[in-house]
Amino acid sequence: MRPQSTALLQWYDQNARKMPWRSPPHSGQQADPYRIWLSEVMLQQTTVAAVRAYFTRFTARWPTVTDLANADDADVMAEWAGLGYYARARNLLKCARAVQALGGFPDTYATLIKLPGIGPYTAAAVASIAFDEPATVVDGNVERVMARLFNIHTPLPAAKPELTALATTLTPQTRAGDYAQAVMDLGATICTPRNPACGLCPLREYCAAYAHGTQTTLPRKTPKPEKPTRAGTLWLARHPDGRWLVEQRAEKGLLGGTIGFPGNGWDTKSPHSAAPITANWQDMGSIRHTFTHFHADLTVLAATTSAPPDHGTFQPVNPENLPTLMRKAYDLALPALLPR
Ligand code: ADE
Repeated sequence: MRPQSTALLQWYDQNARKMPWRSPPHSGQQADPYRIWLSEVMLQQTTVAAVRAYFTRFTARWPTVTDLANADDADVMAEWAGLGYYARARNLLKCARAVQALGGFPDTYATLIKLPGIGPYTAAAVASIAFDEPATVVDGNVERVMARLFNIHTPLPAAKPELTALATTLTPQTRAGDYAQAVMDLGATICTPRNPACGLCPLREYCAAYAHGTQTTLPRKTPKPEKPTRAGTLWLARHPDGRWLVEQRAEKGLLGGTIGFPGNGWDTKSPHSAAPITANWQDMGSIRHTFTHFHADLTVLAATTSAPPDHGTFQPVNPENLPTLMRKAYDLALPALLPR
């Protein structure tokens, strides 16, 4: 084992963060591949802090991959609401069903990577954390740690292959799962993007960036083109009986497969140029929501009406199950629409 890897594992033995899916170092417990897989898919969306609550609710409702495979698609989409990138939730179900058809999680990188929705990152995470295969996990934390440890000035994303190769050279043959989690924990708590705590770092004596004083400038990044802004409209119609005018969105595309308010201008799949229903529309102001490739600035129009809709249907809406963009519009419109 390389000395850096030994030092990192020793640090992890003392400093491993507690997570609901994690088996602590030297606990003798094998991590559950279902829980590792689920947590890693969620962690691709958001922070550890935000994932905790989602993970707890998912695993309370669907404790095993078989339970999830047998779930209703709409229930899973509803529990996923707020995590974003809804194609992941559909892939999650596809993968759960493929795993069930195989009779359980495959236990190698080479077989995991063949599952729907599992890419190199997730396959390596499950193979190493659940099965201790010396597969190399590379996420943003790992890239940052490697760029600093080896003082790599090539900007991302061009540096990716080089950083992956360096990460691979450090992955030990034993305790690969603890090692993968140790690099990620180091990146999240010590080797942080802005103010790395080099004074506390178990790798300081090996760190080429620290020796050169370049750690806060690494990793370098090629600037991304600025995101364009799309302006549009959302129409929030509330029936006097409390139901809302909503549409089931197409499976493919933005917020695919979720429930939403009719709109236009922000999404090529929202072709309606006129209000979906006749009403006395009130301008509630606007919301902003950022997608991967653009910002959406949406005017929210609100009305109470029982007129027959041109499209969509009046349905009960649980705001907690709305995608975040729709939830923002709901929160803005609600005060004007509640009966006084
Ligand atoms: N970020 C994503 N996956 C992680 C893990 N397993 N441990 C720590 N941080 C992570």
